[in-house]
Amino acid sequence: MKRARETTAQAVDTVVVLDYGSQYTQLIARRVRELGAYSVLLPGDADTARIASHAPRAIVLSGGPNSVHAEGAPSVPKEFFEYVEERKIPVLGICYGMQLLVHALGGVVESGGVAEYGRMPVVYQTNGSALYGGKSQMGEKEQVWMSHGDEATKLPAGFACVGKSEGGAVVAVEDAARNLYGLQYHPEVTHSEKGLDTLKRFLFDIAGVKAEWSMANVLEEQIEIVKNAVGPDAHVICALSGGVDSAVAATLVHKAIGDRLHCVFVDNGLLRFKEQERVMEMFKNHLHLPVDCVDHSQQMLTRLAGVTDPEKKRKIIGGEFIECFKNFKGEIEKRTGVRPTFLVQGTLYPDVIESCPPPGSDQKHSHTIKSHHNVGGLPKELGFELVEPLRMLFKDEVRKLGAIMDVPRTFLARHPFPGPGLGVRILGDVTKDNALDILRRVDEVYINTIREFGIYDEIWQAFAVFLPIRSVGVQGDQRSHSHVVALRAITSSDGMTADWYPFTVDFLKTVSTRITNTVKEVNRVCYDVTSKPPATVEWE
Ligand code: XMP
Repeated sequence: MKRARETTAQAVDTVVVLDYGSQYTQLIARRVRELGAYSVLLPGDADTARIASHAPRAIVLSGGPNSVHAEGAPSVPKEFFEYVEERKIPVLGICYGMQLLVHALGGVVESGGVAEYGRMPVVYQTNGSALYGGKSQMGEKEQVWMSHGDEATKLPAGFACVGKSEGGAVVAVEDAARNLYGLQYHPEVTHSEKGLDTLKRFLFDIAGVKAEWSMANVLEEQIEIVKNAVGPDAHVICALSGGVDSAVAATLVHKAIGDRLHCVFVDNGLLRFKEQERVMEMFKNHLHLPVDCVDHSQQMLTRLAGVTDPEKKRKIIGGEFIECFKNFKGEIEKRTGVRPTFLVQGTLYPDVIESCPPPGSDQKHSHTIKSHHNVGGLPKELGFELVEPLRMLFKDEVRKLGAIMDVPRTFLARHPFPGPGLGVRILGDVTKDNALDILRRVDEVYINTIREFGIYDEIWQAFAVFLPIRSVGVQGDQRSHSHVVALRAITSSDGMTADWYPFTVDFLKTVSTRITNTVKEVNRVCYDVTSKPPATVEWE
């Protein structure tokens, strides 16, 4: 499948963030965007030509887990300093990024000193500085979030130390003449109380970036891009999952090309309680999108009967989806006389970022933990060009974009739901033991209780899981040998890493009692207290 066109926002000032593998790199990019400037994340090994193709007004070198002395440790690209000097592009190195600047320009970074981690004060070393502002006073302090083992012990010529940790380590440096700046701590995290002010000074005062990036601009620009890519006659199809990303992407494309967009919602038999009715109602009445509902449940469940291997289940579900999709394409061709040639996908920025591989790993990509099935898995032979209007956005930005297109909040705030649906939440054969019906009812009680406690929006994703075991219980004075369900709720910013949600005891008591009282087939409720890693979000 071809991409319809790389979508970049070149009309506004761009800040390039080079990723050296820190867990906070995406946060830097998001902070820059929150401040109104457009950011692009590139891998730390991107060459200078690739960086230059984004015409950055400023460059940030991220932190990372390495030591500059480690074999294969990532460095700045060849001719980087010549490029930034010639173009007068200010550079801010954060943590590992600062050590890179110091090391590469002839200073000394040493290992084996005292490591400093966590919240601690920085003490200003000068009266006034570019990073801390003209009015900052020597000896003044601010709390920051530190995380370093190595330490800069000698600065390159031209650099001044403007901040030290209380332990005496150099933690803020600047060479105003060459426009190079470094912070040994993380200004992007909220624990650094004035970190955002420092970032603002770097972006706006030092680099002169204009804060002109807004969702209204993105909307306008993406509509234009879609119109140009699709042209005046072609037809486009889009599979809606009931989730935020596909709905926002489809709404945007609908604004661009109107009823040449054809959406399909597939009932694969693995949906949540009343999901089909609820979602179709939203599409028709609130989003005003043209959507066909295809009921594929019978065929899907027939194919899944007796299958217990998680990967096999995922493959079958993906294969059936493709089958449905082919039929839908044919149906649209019959209906309109035109063969659809474009496919809308709700791909987000975190899906397209290439991160920096750990040194010496010879790795370019992460391992496949499980085969995710969504329209992204559609085979090349289907012959579509892709339209991906969200591929430069983070999830929270997609929600903002949806809001300015009047996508209802109830829709935008929905938790993500995986393509294979309850198929990966029923462990083992999904057709056995009335599992689908039991799980749907448990899940409905669980989610309603979460809503009632007013905590739905604090949780990234919550769902119930049907376990392939029975346990002994006592219900109505009688012995029972019934089903066990697990509840999962996580906080996360992108689903890549996650922590379990700390429900109150009151919530857990209420939900467990409600589930066992209303779903008689269940006599035991467990709560999953595992983060990702080591677990994944879904159980299969
Ligand atoms: P895992 O289980 O991989 O889940 O930790 C991470 C996020 O991805 C969702 N997920 C999927 N989404 N098709 C999807 O569209 C899939 O096959 C799939 N598997 C997992 C999961 O719900 C979580 O948000």
